[in-house]
Amino acid sequence: MAERFETPVRYTTPGSPIIRMKGIEKTFETAAGQATVLKGIDVDIHQGEFVGIVGRSGSGKSTLVNMITGIDRPSAGAVEVGGQPVHQMPESRMAVWRGRNLGIVFQFFQLLPMLTLVENVMLPMDFCNIYPPAERQDRAMALLRRVGLEGLAHKLPGAVAGGQQQSAAVARALANDPPILIADEPTGNLDTQTAEQVMHIFEELLTQGKTILLVTHDRSLVRRTHRTLLISDGELVNEALTAAFPDAPHTPLLALSKRAAPVQLAPGAPLPRAEERPDVVYLLTQGDLLLNNGETVQLTGSSLIDPLSVDCDVRAGRQGAALLALPQDGLLPLLANTARPAPFPCQRAAQPAPRPGLFRRRRSE
Ligand SMILES: Nc1ncnc2c1ncn2[C@@H]1O[C@H](COP(=O)(O)OP(=O)(O)OP(=O)(O)O)[C@@H](O)[C@H]1O
Ligand SMILES: [Mg+2]
Repeated sequence: MAERFETPVRYTTPGSPIIRMKGIEKTFETAAGQATVLKGIDVDIHQGEFVGIVGRSGSGKSTLVNMITGIDRPSAGAVEVGGQPVHQMPESRMAVWRGRNLGIVFQFFQLLPMLTLVENVMLPMDFCNIYPPAERQDRAMALLRRVGLEGLAHKLPGAVAGGQQQSAAVARALANDPPILIADEPTGNLDTQTAEQVMHIFEELLTQGKTILLVTHDRSLVRRTHRTLLISDGELVNEALTAAFPDAPHTPLLALSKRAAPVQLAPGAPLPRAEERPDVVYLLTQGDLLLNNGETVQLTGSSLIDPLSVDCDVRAGRQGAALLALPQDGLLPLLANTARPAPFPCQRAAQPAPRPGLFRRRRSE
């Protein structure tokens, strides 16, 4: 029997991220010279999160996930998965570590064509040696049953449809019951119905505490994740901005993200007055704000507040509030391009609602 290298990672430290990326840079040598594809990515992902990774083609999504899987290494920075420094892991340990801890699903399935589906699913078990040999076939069959392929277990990949191959690839990714699943465009070649089956399996895995990273171009799938990492030209857009402006063009969103300044309000602390920051609009990212306008109105996550148009008392609620101060000149082009509601101007009830995308500046009008 092959040596037992290590047990799957255990994530017992409460609150510590299951994946931590710090200062990740990646530069490729190309015929045209050096190309820096990741330009300093910092991100923490916690156990049980379903994280969408989006961005235009060539923005660096696959390069980023390759840093986590150890398929490639960063030029600078650190990647820890379950506390293990993947960027420093020797090649000799990498494959078994990966096989035990990560389930990886690719766009083009990458099943071995000369093995049957059940043999493909057994392969990572044989490689990592967690389950006793006598259990492997039953376990592989159970996984194929779970993805609806039990009846095709003894077919070769070439004899089944693309969607069925991908379902088999998902079963293979689950072979060693890894805590983390990383799927790079898993539904890119699937019809809607099969894509939905794959998503359904992912959602079921989440209920079992798995952590899932899903690279996708499909917005309807992104909406089902817990959080979205938007990569634009090798940089991560501020997540609160990505959540607040899901339809915005990426380049101005990244530019705004670099100019956004965090503001923390203690419970009950007032919103900075317009006179203090006349050129910014606030995006509420956490906690709540209470507007007292005769009656109290509560604003929660992703609300935009233009202090110039607020003519009533605004202060943080009981939990305090985290805000991003956004320069108006960077924000206006985004509002023009999205269906997002206008910043909250604390209207008096009798006044007409503002038109979307327009700021009301009562004090300067
Ligand atoms: N091994 C490599 N050598 C040189 N350049 C590379 C290499 N791998 C990726 N790149 C370049 O890095 C950039 C980012 O590529 P990556 O595959 O990460 O993009 P992506 O966001 O996954 O795109 P897609 O949505 O098309 O899959 C691209 O310009 C690509 O050409
Ligand atoms: Mg890619």
